[in-house]
Amino acid sequence: MFTASQIDASDLTRFYAELDAQLAALLTGERDVVANAANTSALIFQLVADLNWAGFYLLKSSDELVVGPFQGKPACVRIPVGKGVCGATVERRASILVEDVHAFPGHIACDANSQSELVVPLLLGERILGVLDLDSPVKRRFGEADRIGFERLAKTFVEACDW
Ligand code: SME
Repeated sequence: MFTASQIDASDLTRFYAELDAQLAALLTGERDVVANAANTSALIFQLVADLNWAGFYLLKSSDELVVGPFQGKPACVRIPVGKGVCGATVERRASILVEDVHAFPGHIACDANSQSELVVPLLLGERILGVLDLDSPVKRRFGEADRIGFERLAKTFVEACDW
């Protein structure tokens, strides 16, 4: 049985290194995308403070994301590429950090509690597979150290699965 261990978050570089190590251990021996996405979102939601939604939107066609495994309140199911923070992340193929969702034109509100957001692309070489979406009820919850940390977690997740 895998048991997640709480991590001291006073040093974010160490925090994400340890979280990444726990994620790699959790996903070892399993290559199924849905199974690994489910456990990845559960681990993140358990160990990362101040989140109200953590999970995946997967590209099911070239122009549309569909919600995947997540933790949090029920969410919008389909997001066109280019729409909202998630759709914009696919278009840019780069992470988007939104300090205040109310100031992001076109933000899609799935949970009225969300105040800030970080969306990281899932990249496999040149291929984009979807996004990892993190929402917080706290404004300016995410900074550069979080972006770097979550990009590392996204890479570990992508490389652990068969696509
Ligand atoms: N915030 C996203 C929509 C998904 S929910 O937050 C879960 C967006 O604007 O893309």
